[in-house]
Amino acid sequence: MSPKLSSDMRAVEALVLLVLQFLSLTAALDNGLARTPPMGWMQWQRFRCNLNCKDDPDNCISERLFMQIADAMASNGYRDAGYQYVSIDDCWMLPERGPDGRLQPDPARFPSGIKALADYIHSKGLRLGIYADMGLHTCKLYPGSKFYLQTDAETFASWGVDMLKLDCCWAGGLEDLETGYQVMEFFLNQSTRVTNRPILYACSWPACSGSQTKYKLVAQHCNMWRNFVDIRDDWSYVYNTIDFYGNNTYGFREVAGPGNWNDPDELSIGNFGLSEDQERAHFGMWCMMASPMFMSNDVRHIRKSSQQLLLNKNLIAINQDPLGIQAYRLSKSSNGMETWIKPMSGSRYAIAALLSNDYGSPVWFTSTLADLGLNATAGYRITEAFENQFMGKYLPSDTLRLLVNPTGIQIVVAETIQQ
Ligand SMILES: *[C@@H]1O[C@H](CO)[C@@H](O)[C@H](O)[C@H]1NC(C)=O
Ligand SMILES: *[C@@H]1O[C@H](CO)[C@@H](O)[C@H](O)[C@H]1NC(C)=O
Ligand SMILES: *[C@@H]1O[C@H](CO)[C@@H](O)[C@H](O)[C@H]1NC(C)=O
Repeated sequence: MSPKLSSDMRAVEALVLLVLQFLSLTAALDNGLARTPPMGWMQWQRFRCNLNCKDDPDNCISERLFMQIADAMASNGYRDAGYQYVSIDDCWMLPERGPDGRLQPDPARFPSGIKALADYIHSKGLRLGIYADMGLHTCKLYPGSKFYLQTDAETFASWGVDMLKLDCCWAGGLEDLETGYQVMEFFLNQSTRVTNRPILYACSWPACSGSQTKYKLVAQHCNMWRNFVDIRDDWSYVYNTIDFYGNNTYGFREVAGPGNWNDPDELSIGNFGLSEDQERAHFGMWCMMASPMFMSNDVRHIRKSSQQLLLNKNLIAINQDPLGIQAYRLSKSSNGMETWIKPMSGSRYAIAALLSNDYGSPVWFTSTLADLGLNATAGYRITEAFENQFMGKYLPSDTLRLLVNPTGIQIVVAETIQQ
């Protein structure tokens, strides 16, 4: 694409946006989806861009992988626990668009086509997600959606896709991002009106616009959005993401709520790099932060402890609380102990004590409830969240004591006792 053509096309997109705004067609995303944080499975963290189907047929990016993952999700309890989406990431396409300008799946790896895969996923009671990129290319250099937003929205809708992760590699500057993501939302709305199958819209816009992100605008147009680096199967990545959310530097916590969520990236639970405590902390914090819950693991073969964690009903209920309030970090002490609070429905509060450091020994978390801001005079009924163990009644002056393992977490739910 020559620079000249590129700037002409950008002008066209900007014009489309102007017309849409004039006609008040870009009010706010209203597709009825993600009233609580969406849950599912996503390819990237675990399976990456594995194209080697010859040597590694079970793990390469192919329809076979997504069908087997869907089978495991349906038969091993994940679907029934709320994990709904099975989402394809980068590397599903052929390197060129077809003669009709449409994206094409690689026929060697997706011989039945995406429509047939969607039908299969739907037959399992699950939903299919797909991946595209706002820029000239995807991150792995497959065809990008820039200049093809309408075509691609129509293609995905015609295939019966339920979710689109729209990445931002090679997308250009701030204006291109702001215009492109809004225009795509309009085209998704238009093409799904016809099919009657709304598409969950997962944006990467803030991850590419950083400190310049207009978060209110993002939340008006996306169901979820990435705002930080890709997660890796490594505690330092998990903790940095948590720390970024705790800092809340750009005020993004405040724009999250039913229909629109900050996305700290996939759950790397059941893989290679995290200890049992680190998996608990990772899962517990994603629940506290009302994060989308997309596992990226091999649910076909997974440790029992990881599976039990991912299926923990009490923790999932914290994540899925209908108020949809993202936890805030109340304090962070020099020994690495952090306190997080998530206000919940029914005058309840989830309280997390997270120990980010690894000094070798467990550390006591101690705080009066009043110091946590819980000062209702009749007190609170407190329940440990992972095992659902009732701990007792606490007055605001009583001290909550929790022993926290290094790079581990404890979570309790405090229910206000009505006078
Ligand atoms: C499309 O947008 C309109 C206006 O915001 C909204 O009422 C409708 O529910 C949307 N439809 C879909 C399928 O997203
Ligand atoms: C959070 O803020 C602290 C203090 O300003 C800073 O040192 C740290 O790097 C920030 N964390 C992230 C992930 O940005
Ligand atoms: C508890 O403290 C907060 C301020 O921290 C205050 O707004 C609230 O009214 C207090 N509630 C009770 C029941 O005293």
